[in-house]
Order: sequence, then C-alpha cells, then structure tokens
Amino acid sequence: MGQLDGKTALVTGGTSGIGLATARRLADEGAYVFITGRDRTRLDAAAASIPAHGIRSDISKIEELDTLAEEIGKRGKGLDVVFANAGGGDFAALADVTPEHYRDNFDRNVAGTVFTVQKVLPLLNEGASIVLAGSTAASEGVPAFGLYAASKAAIRSLGRTWAAELADRKIRVNTVVPGPIETPGLAGLAPADQQQDLLDGLTSQVPLKRLGRPEEIAAAVLFLASDQSSFITGAELPVDGGQIQL
Ligand SMILES: NC(=O)c1ccc[n+]([C@@H]2O[C@H](COP(=O)([O-])OP(=O)(O)OC[C@H]3O[C@@H](n4cnc5c(N)ncnc54)[C@H](OP(=O)(O)O)[C@@H]3O)[C@@H](O)[C@H]2O)c1
Repeated sequence: MGQLDGKTALVTGGTSGIGLATARRLADEGAYVFITGRDRTRLDAAAASIPAHGIRSDISKIEELDTLAEEIGKRGKGLDVVFANAGGGDFAALADVTPEHYRDNFDRNVAGTVFTVQKVLPLLNEGASIVLAGSTAASEGVPAFGLYAASKAAIRSLGRTWAAELADRKIRVNTVVPGPIETPGLAGLAPADQQQDLLDGLTSQVPLKRLGRPEEIAAAVLFLASDQSSFITGAELPVDGGQIQL
C-alpha cells in the first residue's frame, strides 16, 4: 500500500531537482502524477522516467495555466495534491536590479504560484493538500539575493492566507522551506568556473555541514501531502540542516 494510492498530484517544475525527486516519490507512493516544465525535451524524458503525465507549460504565462487546468480536468479525477514548486531566481545587488530582474523573480515565484493555485482551485478535491515552495532565503539577509528572498517571503505569507481561505473545503496549505539543496538550479546560480566555490560557501553555512538532497525535500512534501500531516495547515516546514533554526 502506497501512502497516496488512488490520489492525483500536480508537481510544477517536475523535470529537474526538487520537483523531479518529489514527482518520483509521489508516484512511488501510488499517486497519478502530472508534471510541468517549459522545455519539451526535458519534460518528455522526466515524464517517461517517473512515470508521470507531462504537460508543457510556463507558470509565468496565464494562458498556459488555463491549458494546464483544462488538461488535468480532462482526466476527471480532480487533484488531491499540488506541489507549486516551479520557480527560481538569480543574484543582483540593489544597485544593479533592473525591471527585468524584478519581473523575472516575481513573475516566476509569486505570480506563477498565485495563478497556478488559482487555476486549479476548481479541481481540488475535499481534503486536498497544497504545498508551496518557500526558501530559507526569505528569513535571511543574503547580499544580492533580495528580490528572490522577498518573492519567497511572499510565498510564505500567501500560504497562511490560503490555508485560512480554504479551510472550509478541508484543503490544507503548507510551505516547505528548503535550505541549499544540490540541484541544477542551485549550481546554476554561478558561472561554471565558480560553482564549486558557491556550493562550498553554502555548505559552510549549514549546521549539518552538507547540502541537502532533493529526495530529502521530497520526503517532507510527501509528509505534508499525505494524511500523516492531517492536522497541519498554514505551517512552514524547514528542511535546511538547521540553517534558519540554530
Ligand atoms: N535548490 C535549492 O537550494 C533551493 C532552495 C530553496 C528553495 N528552492 C526552490 O525550490 C524550487 C525548485 O528548485 P530547484 O533547485 O529544484 O530548481 P531547478 O533544478 O532549476 O528546477 C526547476 C524546475 O522548474 C521548472 N521551471 C522553471 N521555471 C519555470 C516556469 N516559468 N514555468 C514552469 N516550469 C518552470 C524547470 O523546468 P524548465 O526550465 O524546463 O521550465 C525545472 O523543472 C524553486 O521554487 C526554488 O526557488 C530551491
């Protein structure tokens, strides 16, 4: 018996890193899993390997989110789990921030999450679980990471509000808060010749003195998605080797 037998899940950004590991874990636990991503080749490869139902869509384009919801609706089983994971950011100090940098961070992380969750709301079954992707950056002052951090602080706030709004439908909303997790997205924050320095620097900040693995976030999302967390809503769950706790 899997923990999610008979359930249907959506993982946005399910083709790499945290999203891929989580989609795989939810499928292993018996869920029928939809994944999304922008790159068709990566989407098809991930969908075949999980296995999952891939729907190409960009969370920063509302019309593509309409199509996403329509495609999921066609299956006729609704959704029991939503992991609004797609997102990311890059570095820019305040003096260097451009309108494009601002829009990229907020369109991907905030608008993308808001409209993903909004578009699938009619599909959510009673008792569904929504998990948002926060970040320890939201609770820290990391130089040149201000817009990303602010966008993730918005996510944590939205998780509280949506938990209150959706409680009548017995829908729970929680935010998983990864510390530095070894993914292509994390390494990609630095140019190739500086990636090891970045990862070493991040590792030194973690009390457990290592980076997290995507599978460790997947385990936390499974907990929040399943009945194991049936009395938990509006919460945040740090999975960060102690980074924002100690
Ligand atoms: N890794 C960390 O240390 C860390 C720490 C804290 C929080 N997080 C958060 O965890 C989430 C996943 O991060 P990750 O490190 O696993 O990233 P990743 O390896 O870069 O994977 C990102 C995934 O999201 C998809 N994606 C990106 N932009 C998208 C868009 N506009 N529309 C649809 N899909 C999109 C990517 O596929 P395509 O490029 O093909 O679209 C890919 O599948 C993000 O929200 C990130 O901010 C990560």
